[in-house]
Amino acid sequence: MIPAGHDPVELIAWYAEMGVTEMLDETPHDHFAESPQAAEAAATQAAARRNPLRAVPAARVIAADATAPDEAMQSARLLAGQAKTLDELKVALASFEGCALKATAKNLVFADGNPEGRVMFVGEAPGADEDRLGLPFVGRSGQLLDRMLAAIGLNRQEHVYIANLLPWRPPGNRTPTPQEVAICLPFIQRQIELANPDILVCIGGPSAQGLLGFTGILASRGKWTEYEMGARRIRALATLHPAYLLRQPLQKRLAWRDMRALKAALDAAS
Ligand code: URA
Repeated sequence: MIPAGHDPVELIAWYAEMGVTEMLDETPHDHFAESPQAAEAAATQAAARRNPLRAVPAARVIAADATAPDEAMQSARLLAGQAKTLDELKVALASFEGCALKATAKNLVFADGNPEGRVMFVGEAPGADEDRLGLPFVGRSGQLLDRMLAAIGLNRQEHVYIANLLPWRPPGNRTPTPQEVAICLPFIQRQIELANPDILVCIGGPSAQGLLGFTGILASRGKWTEYEMGARRIRALATLHPAYLLRQPLQKRLAWRDMRALKAALDAAS
């Protein structure tokens, strides 16, 4: 039932944006009594009726959900390892069906910035703006990140390459599950290896945990460690996520310390 005074298309788009992709029908269905094929077809039709903007064939969702995590991780490792360039890796990711997030995302969010840059930043996962535009860190968090970079004389066009731990937006911006992270990890690891930066900066807890094994971002931020990348080891640092800094502006002083440490490391190594 659409509340009076609301444009139904806008309302549906808003629900999809908030990650509401399943709704109850007005008439009850005994899905256990239906054959799997009939249930699948009914689910597809119901999804199309409910949300014509983002109707996703049920079979596609089920296939992605049903991929056993081990199988999906193995396939991710194989596909990522076969990619010899960043372009090939992007194509490989676009063809990968092992992560269910792909079914609810609008776009693959692969990277932005200069892959030749000396620093690579890795965030958590795309938000609504990033999902819409297919680029990482373009919303409010991204604008703050750009200002943090500018404060130490860096910009994404020249000096920095930016990606995310997960290339698809989790519905409603929820925190990615450990399984989603594990499945997508080979891709971001290969992306780092192919970009071959001198320094890796993990933005926020999930990235710091997934790539550096850190737990507790407030305790681990600002501490230099090493990231093993194929045959090479590079310096790595975790910092606070700009989305957190927007909510807790007093913590910007900690992020500022991390940015200054990054600048000092870049200057020392140049
Ligand atoms: N937050 C992230 O971690 N990544 C983005 O790309 C945007 C917001």
